[in-house]
Amino acid sequence: MASKEILLLVLCWGLVVLATTSFGANVTYDHRAVVIGGKRRVLISGSIHYPRSTPEMWPDLIQKSKDGGLDVIETYVFWNLHEPVRNQYNFEGRYDLVKFVKLVAEAGLYVHLRIGPYVCAEWNYGGFPLWLHFIPGIQFRTDNEPFKAEMQRFTAKIVDMMKQEKLYASQGGPIILSQIENEYGNIDSAYGAAGKSYIKWAAGMALSLDTGVPWVMCQQSDAPDPIINTCNGFYCDQFTPNSNNKPKMWTENWSGWFLSFGGAVPYRPVEDLAFAVARFFQRGGTFQNYYMYHGGTNFDRTSGGPFISTSYDYDAPLDEYGLIRQPKWGHLKDLHKAIKLCEAALVATDPTYPSLGPNLEATVYKTGSGLCSAFLANIGTNSDVTVKFNGNSYLLPAWSVSILPDCKNVVFNTAKINSVTLVPSFSRQSLQVAADSSDAIGSGWSYINEPVGISKDDAFTKPGLLEQIKTTADQSDYLWYSLSTNIKADEPLLEDGSKTVLHVQSLGHALHAFINGKLVAFAGSGYGSSSNAKVTVDFPIALAPGKNTFDLLSLTVGLQNYGAFYEKTGAGITGPVQLKGSGNGTNIDLSSQQWTYQTGLKGEELNFPSGSSTQWDSKSTLPKLQPLVWYKTTFDAPAGSEPVAIDFTGMGKGEAWVNGQSIGRYWPTYVSQNGGCTDPCNYRGAYSSNKCLKNCGKPSQSLYHVPRSWLKSSGNTLVLFEEIGGDPTKISFVTKQLGSSLCSHVTDSHPLPVDMWGSDSKIQRKPGPVLSLECPNPNQVISSIKFASFGTPLGTCGSFSRGRCSSARSLSVVRQACVGSKSCSIGVSVNTFGDPCKGVMKSLAVEASCT
Ligand code: GAL
Repeated sequence: MASKEILLLVLCWGLVVLATTSFGANVTYDHRAVVIGGKRRVLISGSIHYPRSTPEMWPDLIQKSKDGGLDVIETYVFWNLHEPVRNQYNFEGRYDLVKFVKLVAEAGLYVHLRIGPYVCAEWNYGGFPLWLHFIPGIQFRTDNEPFKAEMQRFTAKIVDMMKQEKLYASQGGPIILSQIENEYGNIDSAYGAAGKSYIKWAAGMALSLDTGVPWVMCQQSDAPDPIINTCNGFYCDQFTPNSNNKPKMWTENWSGWFLSFGGAVPYRPVEDLAFAVARFFQRGGTFQNYYMYHGGTNFDRTSGGPFISTSYDYDAPLDEYGLIRQPKWGHLKDLHKAIKLCEAALVATDPTYPSLGPNLEATVYKTGSGLCSAFLANIGTNSDVTVKFNGNSYLLPAWSVSILPDCKNVVFNTAKINSVTLVPSFSRQSLQVAADSSDAIGSGWSYINEPVGISKDDAFTKPGLLEQIKTTADQSDYLWYSLSTNIKADEPLLEDGSKTVLHVQSLGHALHAFINGKLVAFAGSGYGSSSNAKVTVDFPIALAPGKNTFDLLSLTVGLQNYGAFYEKTGAGITGPVQLKGSGNGTNIDLSSQQWTYQTGLKGEELNFPSGSSTQWDSKSTLPKLQPLVWYKTTFDAPAGSEPVAIDFTGMGKGEAWVNGQSIGRYWPTYVSQNGGCTDPCNYRGAYSSNKCLKNCGKPSQSLYHVPRSWLKSSGNTLVLFEEIGGDPTKISFVTKQLGSSLCSHVTDSHPLPVDMWGSDSKIQRKPGPVLSLECPNPNQVISSIKFASFGTPLGTCGSFSRGRCSSARSLSVVRQACVGSKSCSIGVSVNTFGDPCKGVMKSLAVEASCT
């Protein structure tokens, strides 16, 4: 390279670094917007929670967020991760908050830091460390001195860290906003007057930390000045802040919803999500955040609950693995561009609302200096309507918003998707067991049995039944309740021993019962669900005269994260535990006997998850479908660089570790209910968390993400702890990629692609809508056209078919324009294809392959 070029490169690089790392701006706000460096801004934000991915994934997630049109990344701060033991902090690896914030800054984006420190977030215990519970006299989230002292200490710790690293915008860093508390207004009435004074205190405490940037409280209509109260929900267009001096801000626009073990998979159609966003900006909003933009994975035991699944995909624009989800990502990207085209008008003035008619709304942002942007909404759910606005006609599909950056031309309609659809594909590989595997049983696996009942030295005995969370302090999911009791030979219960019933009542979340060392046959396990964690079981058991042992393994599946006084929600077998005779009415209550307790498993104590124990048995037959077994194998990473998941079909319930790192709880046997799914789902009309569900009657989650960076090319260790019974030889690896197939379907009434905005003024004849295709991977070209029809095509991506009307030229025109290119654009009009059916609304549907 010539030295001049090098110099230029160095110079450019210097400029980039300068441009991306120095924000150096005063952040304030007024009634219209957040004001950065003296300028009101329209800001599009998205949530990415740093511990739900890996530092290796962060740069790509942030870049894809930027490419999708985000200005801001929003994250909570997770207290329980950072301070697992009081006064012992951890900010390493996935917990490296400073690194995350700096990476966002390097990409040139801002940060909204939601410190909480209560976060909800479907996160274990709402983000509070469990030790908090044991501080004498503590009451959470109310006017309570011990609690306030801890909350202040942690909040100040985080603020100080950020200040030391100069990460606030006031210091030249990317953080433009911070949040204190989280949705307290939803539950504060339960705390009475103490709740009110707590919020005043929290506001004052936050302000005293002097971050130099504004604080927000979400869902807190009485947020004290100058704290901005913001809105969370599926829609926030009707929201107004509690003072005319504050901007209208939306901190959580739920891009989908979370999944629970036992539930169907929620999704939110992008037409509705885009509608919600457009409505918000239409009605005066200027800051909007997607919760989540990337949901990610609840590794380890971080999921809240109870019963939150390990996947936190959330149907977000970036999927759990970090791949773009199309057409969601692309349609929102177009929406963001459309909104930005209106930014100057939006921030300059308050809107006016000229009347359009019932269920219709026009909003105009017009300034004295000639700026004009408008939004036209049809909030009816049934009929498309043609409206007259400023003397022109506009067709507004039901439940849609059109955006007119110049008050005349439509650049975007929320119901008309220009973006491509990409159907992801999965490649399956069986577990590649290392060739030198020394196991004698040919399965590639070795194992260790976890003892039934008490096996650890720290077990203790107490009369009566103990609540689980207070007993385990959440050191483990598991708590053994064990009892050995003598049943006399003349005990009336034994008259018909085969019909004795063990009755157990537990606050949840799941329970496995072992009698005399054996898991009770058939129905030996009981589970609660996300709507009711409690477990009540009546197991038929066979008792023998003499000594009988009852080993009840009770387990938690993520601690409660939401609700007033949620931290008081108990778990475990609080009783009664009874033996009930058949027919003769006899009943022995075991509840107040001397129970022996063991927190956690022997294998946890001996660190089996690391795989390094000497006890692994590879010489005898591998136990299958047996409860309480640790399994281990060694494997090669699936080839390539695509994201990896393990398909746990064949296993029951447990936890898994790859090279010592927990990939989370697996539970492929928890199947969702059969009914209630709607796929596809009509996006028209108000969305709610159970409106659009898929995957009914199937396992809630069978695929579990293994971050690539946790894998070596060979010699990886996989350890499983199986509670109920499974066959580990059935598990397989899956890699996920954006499919090689891409589709698009554009009508002749679609707006021009947003990227062509402004170009039409240069073109004499106003071009019609355009269908654009682009291969998802940089080194691909469009290799074939699987389907193309201009006319009245039917179906969706993967199942398009010709309708009654179809231009005979469709395929040849599209082939000609696209095959051999990385991307192509085709005019969706009779000029391109001729008119196969006069007077009929037409569209072009294409499915293409990239290789
Ligand atoms: C909100 C809460 C978030 C998250 C969300 C549901 O109420 O603030 O943290 O829990 O609900 O995903």
